[in-house]
Amino acid sequence: MQRKLNEMLNPKQIDFMLADDKVINLLTGSVRSGKTYVSLLKWAVFVATMPESSEFLMTGKTLTSLKRNCLGLLQDLVGKNFTYSTSQKMGVLFGRKIWLEGANDERAESKIRGMTLAGAYVDELTQIPFDFYSMLLSRLSVKNAKLYATTNPDSPTHWVKEMIIDNEEIEKAIWTFSFDDNEILKKENEDYFNNLKQQYQSMGGVYFERFILGLWVMAEGVIYRQFANNPELFIKDKAVDENGDKINFLIISIGIDYGATKGETEFKATGITSQFKEVWTIDEEKLHGLYAPEQVYQKFVDFYKRVVVDYGKVTHCFADYGALGQVLTYGLNRYLQQNGIPLKVDDCIKGQINDRIYLDCYLFANSRRFILRKCKYLIEAYKLAVWDEKHEDTRLDDGTTPIDDLDASEYSMFPFYDKLMMNIKQF
Ligand SMILES: Nc1ncnc2c1ncn2[C@@H]1O[C@H](COP(=O)(O)OP(=O)(O)OP(=O)(O)O)[C@@H](O)[C@H]1O
Ligand SMILES: [Mg+2]
Repeated sequence: MQRKLNEMLNPKQIDFMLADDKVINLLTGSVRSGKTYVSLLKWAVFVATMPESSEFLMTGKTLTSLKRNCLGLLQDLVGKNFTYSTSQKMGVLFGRKIWLEGANDERAESKIRGMTLAGAYVDELTQIPFDFYSMLLSRLSVKNAKLYATTNPDSPTHWVKEMIIDNEEIEKAIWTFSFDDNEILKKENEDYFNNLKQQYQSMGGVYFERFILGLWVMAEGVIYRQFANNPELFIKDKAVDENGDKINFLIISIGIDYGATKGETEFKATGITSQFKEVWTIDEEKLHGLYAPEQVYQKFVDFYKRVVVDYGKVTHCFADYGALGQVLTYGLNRYLQQNGIPLKVDDCIKGQINDRIYLDCYLFANSRRFILRKCKYLIEAYKLAVWDEKHEDTRLDDGTTPIDDLDASEYSMFPFYDKLMMNIKQF
């Protein structure tokens, strides 16, 4: 058994596999360090040894992220012993029923309220609301029930750090995995690991410290470091590919921020290339001062037409829905219809600002994010954005830096987050 394990697992993973589990078992640390792999293995063994009639839950921030990060890998690990359907939100692992649930929507907590669980698996624990976690713990009422969770570090004041890791009053085992712990994969893919480290190094700051060094640290200073340090790498005069040919974008999406209170409205047009490889900001418009709704609509139509003339199409449009946003969007859609413009404006998906920020930083780090030089407001906004020193993991939004430009740009691209991130976990 021991020899077999040596071939299959990294030393840190073997320690974890052989250890006695506690009620709460948390694996934290660097990216790609083998936490998910080994925790799923142990989860499978745990589930298989619990009574057959017991029920279990696997959860993550969303069902999509749970699927992407865990469900496929679990199948690779145990083969036919795990089958699942995300539409039915259910799986079967060694004959035991596994509920699958995303924790990121407001109703999630009520969905697990009535459950009686013998075990739970949580992917990316820091992304789960505390209320959901407490409800989950209270559902683990079967004898010997256990919770397994993985996470990358977050802020030192995050509830996971304060309520679990630093909490001496609960029965828990905390395992910390480092970037060098995944020896098996590292041996096979030395270049991949070096590149990954370099990528995070260039993203700098909090991303390097948390995701490579595995530290629970505050986010401080300039946000888009890579861009701010060397903007010319990402600023282009024309939207052309490496052969100098005009890019034929797969998607052209406009983001609208109405900026109701500040009287500044932003339009940002974003082009996404085929296979969701690159993201280009190709045009922008800023309306200074207060406008009547009809004037905003006409300005939008002018902007839309400009993009269509330059790039042939606009495929999507997402608008802010805060304050009177929805009313304006309703009016805008009517206006577009009346003017024969074949475009529907949808409410944006706000998500968590930090996910939007991470997406940009990740794309910059991979040289997949470009901005046309003429989009000077957005360029300025990327240079100036900083973390708020007074609030945990928050982008400073006190009027001293131009946040609305970033919002509008993020609204245009965030709906494609999953597709843009798809190749983050290539191995
Ligand atoms: N013992 C192993 N043998 C072979 N491959 C492994 C082993 N452990 C991990 N891997 C592979 O290494 C990669 C990273 O592992 P894993 O996803 O478990 O890391 P992680 O710590 O959960 O990373 P992240 O923080 O990015 O989620 C995965 O592709 C996984 O399949
Ligand atoms: Mg993982």
